[in-house]
Amino acid sequence: MSKAGRLVVLVSGSGTNLQALLDASADPAYGASVVAVGADRDGIEGLSRASRADVPTFVEKLGDYESRSQWDVAIAERIAAYEPDLVVSAGFMKILGAPTLKNFPVVNTHPALLPSFPGAHGVRDALTHGVKVTGCTVMLADAGVDTGPIIAQEAVAVLPDDDEHTLHERIKTVERRLLVEIVGRMVREGWTVSGRTVRIGN
Ligand code: GRF
Repeated sequence: MSKAGRLVVLVSGSGTNLQALLDASADPAYGASVVAVGADRDGIEGLSRASRADVPTFVEKLGDYESRSQWDVAIAERIAAYEPDLVVSAGFMKILGAPTLKNFPVVNTHPALLPSFPGAHGVRDALTHGVKVTGCTVMLADAGVDTGPIIAQEAVAVLPDDDEHTLHERIKTVERRLLVEIVGRMVREGWTVSGRTVRIGN
């Protein structure tokens, strides 16, 4: 079997998407393994999950740098040190700059059906709008906020009694499965991008 694809996963919170990738990569047939986990803050469960799995971690806090562009360079260097085939932004609450985006493909996941409800409060914004169906989107990251080419989406029904928490948890169940499936397929089969169309495999 060919060498496992190297994933660097970036997190800012509980890291359940990271955990799903860690669990999937325990099977050699998955074809990818998490070689490092990066974060923009300390003390989060995502970093603990990495440590429990014996995966190296790094933290780069924006506030430790004089400018955003210095942070952009610093995090790109930390990522590059692990020579990833794919970077996965899995609940990472920062936009990555050119130093990362120029050098590595980055997959991002969002808990809404883009282009509706981009940004940090996609679940809340969908609920407030009163939609009956929302979902999750796996995309390639670009310099914008949730604007990159879409790779896959799945719908989730909004239930009458949903609040932000219950809806987000139901979306995350779908999101974890979709992210694991798409990342695995990208690493095993490759992908092409033509305009806004992403095609996995040949
Ligand atoms: C996910 O829904 C992600 O799309 C959003 O934040 C959540 C992160 O969850 N940006 P977790 O940290 O992977 O549990």
